[in-house]
Amino acid sequence: MKKAIYPGSFDPVTFGHLDIIRRSASIFDELTVGVLNNNLKTPLFSVEERVKILQEATKDLPNVKIDSFSGLLVNYTKEKDIHVAVRGVRAITDYDYELQIAQTNHKLSGGELDTIFLTPNLEYAYLSSSGVKEIASFHGDISMCVPEFIVKLVYEKYGFGEE
Ligand code: PNS
Repeated sequence: MKKAIYPGSFDPVTFGHLDIIRRSASIFDELTVGVLNNNLKTPLFSVEERVKILQEATKDLPNVKIDSFSGLLVNYTKEKDIHVAVRGVRAITDYDYELQIAQTNHKLSGGELDTIFLTPNLEYAYLSSSGVKEIASFHGDISMCVPEFIVKLVYEKYGFGEE
């Protein structure tokens, strides 16, 4: 069985992430979306909330599992016997950072974890979770960035009620 992990913060998941999830799920037999539980960052959504949101957003994809991990990605993938990580590269500006992570993970895993890069649909190339949060914090329109049920959840976090 060909397994892969798509790791990330997903705070919150955007249409760009969902595009990568959908396409990876059609390449691999089983895709785990791994939500990083990072104690150093204060996320908008807790890790439990992000897992639930991702479960709802991917419920039509039977070979996609949502899980969370803390610490090093390579430890999680070793435990789960996963040898491929998927990351999305939107533009050349993402590439330096992604290349560094991919090479670090390859080294740290003793060559057991490879990373493949997918390019998101151009329609979503401008999207980022931090952009979504910034727009939402000023009560701007984020309906082109995230599914409708997430729009409501993000606004609630910023104290904006029913739209
Ligand atoms: O969505 P993000 O925040 O860009 O995702 C970054 C992520 C989660 C892929 C990366 O930070 C990660 O894998 N962190 C876990 C810690 C780790 O394994 N670090 C070693 C590689 S630098």
